[in-house]
Amino acid sequence: MITHIVGNRPQFIKLAPLYHALEEAGCQQNIIHSGQHYDENMSDIFFEELGIPAPYVNLEAGGGSHAQVTAKAMVGLEEELLDKKPELVILYGDTNTTLAGAVTASKLCIPIVHVEAGPRTHVRTNPEECNRIVTDHLSDVLFCPDAVSLENLKREGLGEQACVTGDIMYDTYLSIAGRTGQAEISGEQEEIVLMTWHRQENTSNKERMAAILDLVERLGDKVVCPLHPRTRKCLSQFGLLERAESISNLEIINPVGYVEMVRLMSRARLILTDSGGVSKESSFAGAKCLFMLNLDIWEDLMRDDWLHRVNPEDAKSVESALAFAKKAVRAAPEERPRYYGDGCAAKKMVQVLKEKGLI
Ligand code: UD1
Ligand code: UDP
Repeated sequence: MITHIVGNRPQFIKLAPLYHALEEAGCQQNIIHSGQHYDENMSDIFFEELGIPAPYVNLEAGGGSHAQVTAKAMVGLEEELLDKKPELVILYGDTNTTLAGAVTASKLCIPIVHVEAGPRTHVRTNPEECNRIVTDHLSDVLFCPDAVSLENLKREGLGEQACVTGDIMYDTYLSIAGRTGQAEISGEQEEIVLMTWHRQENTSNKERMAAILDLVERLGDKVVCPLHPRTRKCLSQFGLLERAESISNLEIINPVGYVEMVRLMSRARLILTDSGGVSKESSFAGAKCLFMLNLDIWEDLMRDDWLHRVNPEDAKSVESALAFAKKAVRAAPEERPRYYGDGCAAKKMVQVLKEKGLI
């Protein structure tokens, strides 16, 4: 039995292709949902749209502090893993659910596969960095989305168990863009700036949130923002929600499923985000990206000036971002960066697991 441990929106998106590829290979699998994300449009919709079977258990660990979520997930995971005794656990990305899975499975001596191993921001105060480092060091097989990630792991002495498979999110993106015929903008659709915003660094401080709203206003273009529930709550707590809703070029909508997200990306001239996943998907969809965190991320895209960092609280940085935004146009498929594989990451993962005798 292979157990996938997931709990957050981006993990459902990463799980889908690997689940299907393992099914094709005849493997027995089950899914544990930590419950970290729990709203219908943050969780169930992805299982439905991506054809993933329902998790056999939900640990309902969501809605608390880092320690509360991680600890509750660990207690539930220990019980489930002891009961079902899987031969292999698969973890995704860098969230508290990933961390809980790594620590728990490792102490039960269950081999761990980490999907999306190796990205580093080199900033320890970034909560995801902490989760990634621990998970990579406790895992037995490390699947990297790009060459930079493999180099990072080699520097940490983890090269032997690591390999580049390409990014599994590209598998999902292509399957949906292909299925819906929405990879490219059609003549009648209005171009937009697509915005996502949820990271702790950008939601825990009122001045920071106000500065982000100022930046949106100054962009001038129509900005569509499927708003993460954390961000809505924080805007409300800081008394900024009304201000956000009154910005005439900003359309705030509820979080959307992945099919609608691909449709929005296909209309985007520019993507404004603090999301690790969305900033990378910008290169799949052909829209340049303003990244709202002072972190090194997706180094190849940064070097190409596809991904441009902006500090919304710094006047000079905002001016440079506005100049970048003004110039940004959708890139034709052949002009898009190609650092994240060929959309067949899941198949490669299955092949490696077979070669290692793990499935
Ligand atoms: C988490 C991950 C982050 C990832 C993001 C994906 C960690 C440390 N952070 O951040 O790396 O980028 O998921 O989206 O694990 N909430 C709801 N409904 C939901 C989910 C969340 O209302 O379905 C609200 C709750 O108030 C919750 C807050 O959002 O306390 C934060 O949720 P949490 O899962 O802790 O962190 P994210 O910001 O979603
Ligand atoms: N996404 C989505 N609906 C939304 C916002 C994002 O389907 O309303 C998708 C997005 O395209 C990407 C993933 O969710 O595939 C990224 O998740 P998120 O930004 O929450 O997390 P991160 O990547 O920062 O960990």
